[in-house]
Amino acid sequence: MNDLFQAALRAFGNAHAPYSGFRVGAVVRGGSGKVFAGANVENTSYPEGNCAEASAIAAMVAAGERRIIEVLVLAAGERLCTPCGGCRQRLAEFAAPDVPVHLCDPDGLRRTVTFGELLPLSFGLQGTSPGAATTALEAIRAAAPDAAPKVGIVLGSGLGGLTDTVEDAIAIPYADLPGFPQPSVEGHEGRLVLGRLADVPVACLQGRVHLYEGAPAGAVNVLVRTLKALGCEILVLTNASGSLKPEIGPGTLVAISDHINLLGQSPLVGPNDATVGPRFPDMSAVYDRALRERAQKVAKRLGIPLVSGVYLATLGPSFETPAEIRAFGALGADLVGMSTVPEAISARHVGMRVLGFSIVTNRAAGLGAGPLSHDETLARAAEAADSLKRLLLGLLEELGRDDIENT
Ligand code: HPA
Repeated sequence: MNDLFQAALRAFGNAHAPYSGFRVGAVVRGGSGKVFAGANVENTSYPEGNCAEASAIAAMVAAGERRIIEVLVLAAGERLCTPCGGCRQRLAEFAAPDVPVHLCDPDGLRRTVTFGELLPLSFGLQGTSPGAATTALEAIRAAAPDAAPKVGIVLGSGLGGLTDTVEDAIAIPYADLPGFPQPSVEGHEGRLVLGRLADVPVACLQGRVHLYEGAPAGAVNVLVRTLKALGCEILVLTNASGSLKPEIGPGTLVAISDHINLLGQSPLVGPNDATVGPRFPDMSAVYDRALRERAQKVAKRLGIPLVSGVYLATLGPSFETPAEIRAFGALGADLVGMSTVPEAISARHVGMRVLGFSIVTNRAAGLGAGPLSHDETLARAAEAADSLKRLLLGLLEELGRDDIENT
């Protein structure tokens, strides 16, 4: 790979990107073993420039070759640079799905994926690629061969500490799980923690990505489908939210009874794999009624106030305006937040039973005193996290006593 890397580094240095300032070097190895490099070349009609991959492929074809056996893309910056949708199609003309694609920065290799993992997607790495989920599954099986979780738990803002209670914990960073999107927000760690809670085998996703981080909505499919493939039948989603209701104050725990999707996106957009779930999944009972009733019973027994509410998801990352909050109230929302709905839709698509718990961290915009801040969200979530932890443990204990399938 070193010859590819050196050629890409040279091309990267020669890139002509005065308009975007984003230089890219790309290299393809032809079937003969020869290496063809390209750089992105922009012009004043930017964005009508030439991608680095397109330049490299053109050089290969002009030299009389028609088969790519290895690809390397190099760019600077925090985000991995992957071929764009157009270049994926160009590569598809000459590369088989098992061709390795090395994603690098000037310091070296950051990740190698197969071309097949990129192909169904226009951008990025994460998404609905069944290949990606399978690879994450293989990585999990290698790290925790005996793990057979029954319940998946997604830990939202400031709730990651719940994993401290997991017994026999095996933690795997998302970075080691191909296709798992890396959270970039404070309070979201990015680890899969496998183990037992109240003697029930669980898989905790410590940290999630949000659409406002730039992840495609389909990014959550890899997480959800991996949990399902591991054996999880129930997915518990947790989050922090703002309250629209005077009677639901900060610190209150809410069992989500339904949601309103104002993200403008769905994780299921794109080709549907009918072996995973139906094209048009039913959403008339997303949050499992029987499980919610069990949760209410447990909360009552433990003396933890638990109310029900409808959660409305907005794209963010800006908090809402007071006018938006008034509009959302008229739509029937009790809570507002920036997460949970993509995972809930993805989980229902694969037939998992879903429970959602929200910690109210603030009164929604215009309903409380003063401006909103993420620091405040984290602080309030941490305060109520203990009640949520007790509730979850109590619930798992009950579920574990019964046969989870028949609850
Ligand atoms: N709005 C959106 N997301 C949130 C809020 C809010 O008020 N509080 C916590 N997450």
